[in-house]
Amino acid sequence: MCFIAGGFSARAQRTIAISTKNTSMILSVDKSGSLDFQAYGKRIERAGVFDAFVPNDDHHLNMRVPAYTTRGGDYIGAPALSVMHADGGMNTELRYVSHETVKGEGVEKTTIILHDTMQPLEVRLVYVAYQDEDVIESHSEIVNLGKKEIVLTDYFSSSVMLNASRYLLTRFWGSWAHEFQVERVQLSHGVTSIEDYCGVRTTHKSNPSFVLSLDASEFSETSGEVVAGALKWSGNYKIDFYRDETGRLQIRSGINPMSSEWHLSKGETFVTPDMVYTFSANGAGQASRNLHDWARRFGLYDAAAVAPTLLNSWEGAYFAFDTKTLTDMMDDAASIGLEMFVLDDGWFANGEFARNSDKSGLGDWQLNTSKIPEGISYLADYAHAKGLKFGIWIEPEMVNPKSGLYQKHPDWVVNEPGRDIIPLRNQYLLDLSNPAVQDFVFGVFDSVMQMGDIDYIKWDCNRHVLNMGSSFQKHQSHFYTAYTLGLYNVLARVREKYPKVMIQSCSSGGGRVDYGVLQYTNEVWTSDDTDAAVRTQMQYGFSLIYPSMVMGSHISAVPNHQTHLSTSIKYRTDIASSGRLGVELQPKQMTADEKKVVMRAVDGYKSFRDIIYQGDLYRLQSPYDGPDTANLYVSKDKKRAVLFVYHTEYVLKGFMPQIRLQGLQDGASYKVTELNCTKSVFWGNGKSFDSDYLQSFGMNLKLRDTYSSAVFLLEMDNQ
Ligand code: DGJ
Repeated sequence: MCFIAGGFSARAQRTIAISTKNTSMILSVDKSGSLDFQAYGKRIERAGVFDAFVPNDDHHLNMRVPAYTTRGGDYIGAPALSVMHADGGMNTELRYVSHETVKGEGVEKTTIILHDTMQPLEVRLVYVAYQDEDVIESHSEIVNLGKKEIVLTDYFSSSVMLNASRYLLTRFWGSWAHEFQVERVQLSHGVTSIEDYCGVRTTHKSNPSFVLSLDASEFSETSGEVVAGALKWSGNYKIDFYRDETGRLQIRSGINPMSSEWHLSKGETFVTPDMVYTFSANGAGQASRNLHDWARRFGLYDAAAVAPTLLNSWEGAYFAFDTKTLTDMMDDAASIGLEMFVLDDGWFANGEFARNSDKSGLGDWQLNTSKIPEGISYLADYAHAKGLKFGIWIEPEMVNPKSGLYQKHPDWVVNEPGRDIIPLRNQYLLDLSNPAVQDFVFGVFDSVMQMGDIDYIKWDCNRHVLNMGSSFQKHQSHFYTAYTLGLYNVLARVREKYPKVMIQSCSSGGGRVDYGVLQYTNEVWTSDDTDAAVRTQMQYGFSLIYPSMVMGSHISAVPNHQTHLSTSIKYRTDIASSGRLGVELQPKQMTADEKKVVMRAVDGYKSFRDIIYQGDLYRLQSPYDGPDTANLYVSKDKKRAVLFVYHTEYVLKGFMPQIRLQGLQDGASYKVTELNCTKSVFWGNGKSFDSDYLQSFGMNLKLRDTYSSAVFLLEMDNQ
């Protein structure tokens, strides 16, 4: 099929509607066979109207937008796909060949096949529409149909086009121990990017996700059109927002093309990672709930599993422990009512390489017999005898130069021959793009699992790529992408062999928080900053994209080890209780009162955690907008709810925050009970209130001290 010059005015010939219950993404094929992007937003019932669509035909403007933009053809925006063809040609013009939609339970998958007009190249665009969740996932599959190698220079997952008068972008910035800080910008003309090129540990500085409020100058939880997105990829990413001269916005998202040209041999296919989109006509709150629902039903590994409350040894013991330190901690964990003990860093390597600090030992995954002569199985059995599950920390992608592994396999380290290897936290990165290293990393997991009856693995990753280079890769430009594919290959093998073990994705705290890794892991370690004062904002940001059920949040000691700030044990407990609750301190250093507060909270948490994990989150008040943060989780049947209120600033003498609830059953009444307290801050504690009172007027609370908090359980009357 050949391209008709001046095809801007070509009429649409065939419409392909990718729809969910309330949203539609409309694509159409014009006379020339070009597959164009028409719209994404509220559901369009009779999408066939696009069959007769006549676009603006002024060819000075870039009005027609391919569904998958390419370098070549008539579109001059950002190409999702740029190919260097075997004959040196640099242009790609895709034309529709066929499409099919397959329906599953609550899911419709549409695959559209496109071919280049001249080169032996096929592109398959895959859209999966999750009906009830209003989520559409999209990726591309690029197939070399020719006899010679081609090179992909840009191979983004997807491109969509929005049309609004203005675009308010909510994005995340941060660093180690300061993840998920929220920033809002009005998009100007030209390109705004969210990207990372650290290779691994890619989500400290930003996150491959966003919330976009359309036609809005203010962010709203409850009104206005919103598109939110997240990329399922744990390596370098790039999400470009290109506001063109007509005011429309192209979003191009996928693997960051920086230094990542991909050589595709004859017959090979490259499958890009999925980009997840949702659209809400009712503000950002609904967009987050859509993503959370989708994640729980389709996006997360084993979202039905209940997370045990835990004691993690890191901030309580660091590297200094022996068997008795650990068994004492387990005794304390059990007496507090916790359900798991996690042995963190420091349990492995011997002799000169013993892991007594971060300077040595990584790579030598043998038990440190001076610290724990009795063995891991002894600790695991001890935990189980106490009624606790047992978890253990590994960091299998890393090696210290001071280790037996490095002496044996210096060739496995990421570097460029001739250049110094730059250490980070005294360690080097293993080249996971190399299948031999993948086998080793899988072997670390596998052999640690054999050391005892292990229920949980904390998989850490404490550095990023500097001086990229692989002794395995023929094309160095494959390294970044192949590393992440190597990681997923290992995780897939792990899951095949160990479907039930719980895995936490940790990377110096929140350096690997994305929906790519969450296909294999049950949770993430949100941040190494456990300060409740800081977590108020961080957890707010996190919740915009990710559900609380994957958010590790621990009660730690004061002064906080990162910020040196002190908050009350109640405040720390109430913050940690809105995620996957854990404790990370030396219980022996707790006062009897502190222990009591934590025990009471752990007990209460067990009774409502199902609401936090599986319910709907309403962010009632944002930490960015005033002295109070309030989050309400409502069970799907609306019969129960948990309200968290955090007062983070002194306001005025006598000031009482007034919190208006959302999401309750109209016409119902709820009994309100304050938890985690001896004296309630609510005058109506223990009484029942109609939902219209709670939602229209709200609860006025005697929360006056900086960093004071309250937790309430709401139960529908007469159920
Ligand atoms: C970084 C993690 O984020 C911490 O929780 C802890 O596991 C340390 N690594 C151990 O080295």
